[in-house]
Amino acid sequence: MEQTLVLIKPSAVVRGLIGQIITRFQNKGLIITGLKMMQLDEKICREHYAHLVDRPFFPFLLNSMTRTPIIAMVLKGLDAVHVVREMTGATKGRAANPGTLRGDYCMSGQENIVHASDTPENALIEIDRFFSQGEVFDYTCDMFKYLYSPDEVEF
Ligand code: TYD
Repeated sequence: MEQTLVLIKPSAVVRGLIGQIITRFQNKGLIITGLKMMQLDEKICREHYAHLVDRPFFPFLLNSMTRTPIIAMVLKGLDAVHVVREMTGATKGRAANPGTLRGDYCMSGQENIVHASDTPENALIEIDRFFSQGEVFDYTCDMFKYLYSPDEVEF
């Protein structure tokens, strides 16, 4: 079953939104397989946002992502990458649809409370970037038979 990476960004940590964000994902039926607080440094930010290092706003993004610890989380479910991206909403909070996390909780394009992997390939790379072996757990979840039908997953 697919797994994806979510980062709860400093803006959400400081605003006291950690619990509400985790609850939204759990209410949806995504399973938490990894969860920790960590302090990002410049090296991991440059790697994670390699596609943006040459953009003029990168110094602001770097400062934004390193000023407090973040929460890193691995979520599991059918089509988890797509589902979590949809729940996250458009990059700019002001443009994100109501009902999405960014649409409901933020105004900014930079202080946009969460990161979510954009493709299954990137999800694998990003999970490896933020979690060591042994920090992501594979455990039996009896709830699956109440979340999916037998022709969707093997119980
Ligand atoms: P990006 O990967 O384009 O978006 P997303 O987070 O929705 O996958 O950008 C990564 C982060 O970079 C984004 O969440 C916030 C920041 N950012 C800015 O601060 N300004 C910008 O103009 C863009 C495009 C991104």
